[in-house]
Amino acid sequence: MIDAKGKTILLVDDEQDIRDVLAVALQDMGYRTVEAENAQQAFEIFQTKSPQIVVTDIKMPGSDGIDLLKKIKNENPETEVIMITGHGDMNLAIRSLKHKATDFITKPINVDALEIALRRACEKITIRRKMQDYTSSLEQLIREKTELQDHLASLGLMIGSISHGIKGLVTSLEGGLYLVSSGLKKNDLSRMEEGCKAANETAGRIHKMVLNILYYAKKRELNRLAVEATEFATQVAGTLSSRFDENNIRLDCRFDENAGSMTVDGDYLHAALVNILENASDACLKDREKSTHQVTFSMAGRKKDVVFTIADDGIGMDHGTREQVFSLFFSTKGRNGTGLGLFITNRIVKQHSGTISVTSTPGKGTEFVIRIPRTPPVD
Ligand SMILES: Nc1ncnc2c1ncn2[C@@H]1O[C@H](COP(=O)(O)OP(=O)(O)OP(=O)(O)O)[C@@H](O)[C@H]1O
Ligand SMILES: [Mg+2]
Repeated sequence: MIDAKGKTILLVDDEQDIRDVLAVALQDMGYRTVEAENAQQAFEIFQTKSPQIVVTDIKMPGSDGIDLLKKIKNENPETEVIMITGHGDMNLAIRSLKHKATDFITKPINVDALEIALRRACEKITIRRKMQDYTSSLEQLIREKTELQDHLASLGLMIGSISHGIKGLVTSLEGGLYLVSSGLKKNDLSRMEEGCKAANETAGRIHKMVLNILYYAKKRELNRLAVEATEFATQVAGTLSSRFDENNIRLDCRFDENAGSMTVDGDYLHAALVNILENASDACLKDREKSTHQVTFSMAGRKKDVVFTIADDGIGMDHGTREQVFSLFFSTKGRNGTGLGLFITNRIVKQHSGTISVTSTPGKGTEFVIRIPRTPPVD
C-alpha cells in the first residue's frame, strides 16, 4: 500500500477523457487531484497548489510536457514528475529522464503501471524527507559537539590556569604559616603578625578566585532587586578599604548622595566592581615610579543610568594589553592572576544591558567607566 495520504497530484493532459479516467483511478488510490489541460495552466496551478507529484502527458498542443518538466524542476527540484508517453515516443521518454523525470508510463495507461510509478515517487519523497531529517539532526549533533569541544578546551585552559594560581597561593599560604609557627617558637609577636597578615591576604585571594570560578561555571539569570546606589557603592568600597589601607593606596570615594535607586543584581554587580578595584590596586602596587598612589572611585546618578568610574594612577596598559583585558584567561600577573576577573565583570555588565569602557596610558594609569541602566530594558 502506498502512502498516498495527504498527497496531491497534478494531472496534466489535453484530453478531458483521459484526465477524468485518471482522476478517478488516482482518487481511488487515496490521492487528491488537481487538473490542467495545458502546460501553461499546469504551471500556474503548480505554483499555487504546490503538488508533490505531477503526472503529465508529453505531447500537448503549445508548450509540451518536457518544457513543463523543466520549469517545474527549476521551480522545485524535489517535485516528482511522471511522464505519459505514446507508443514510439522512446526518444522523448529518454529526454524526459535526462531532465530528471521520476518515471514514464506509456499510453494506453495501465493503472497497475501507474500505481507502481506512483509508489516509486512516494518512496522517493519519503526517503528524501528522512534524509533531510537525518541531515538536520546530524547538523545539530555537529553543532553540539563543537560547543562541547569549545567548552572542554576552555575548561582545560581554566584548570591549567587555576592549578597554576592555586600552586602560587598555597606557597604563599605556607610562607605565612611558616612565619606564624616560627614566630610562636621564638615568641616573636611581630613575626606572627606578619605571618597572619600574609595568610589572611592569601585567604582573601583564594576566596575571590573561588567566587570568580563559580561565576564562570554557573552563569545564572539575574536576581534583580531595587538597590540604593549610594549605599551600594559604599558597601563595595568597604569590602576593599582594608586592602587599600594595607597597601598604602588612597581610595578616594566620590559618591553622588542623590543617585537614587537601581534595579540590579547586587551580588553580581558587587563582584564586577570589586574585580576592577582589585586590578586598580594591583596596578598601583606594580608601579614603582611614583611614591604614593591613589584610586578614585566615583558614582553618579543619571536620568536613566548609574555611572561608576574607577581611575587609578598605577602602571597603566599598552595598546595590546588594553585590547585583551576582557578576554577569558588573559592575565599578565603570572601565578597571581587567573584572567577571569574582567571577563566576568564584562559578562555581568552585559547581562545588565550596561556598557563598560577602558582608557589607559602606560606609566600614567587606567580608567574604567561602567554604565548600568537603572531598570532592565523592555524588549
Ligand atoms: N587597572 C589596570 N591597570 C593595568 N592593567 C590592568 C588593569 N586592569 C586590568 N589590567 C590588565 O588586564 C589583565 C586582565 O585582568 P583580569 O582582572 O581579567 O585578570 P587578572 O587580574 O590578571 O586575574 P584575576 O582573574 O585574578 O582577576 C590583567 O592581568 C592586567 O594585565
Ligand atoms: Mg583581576
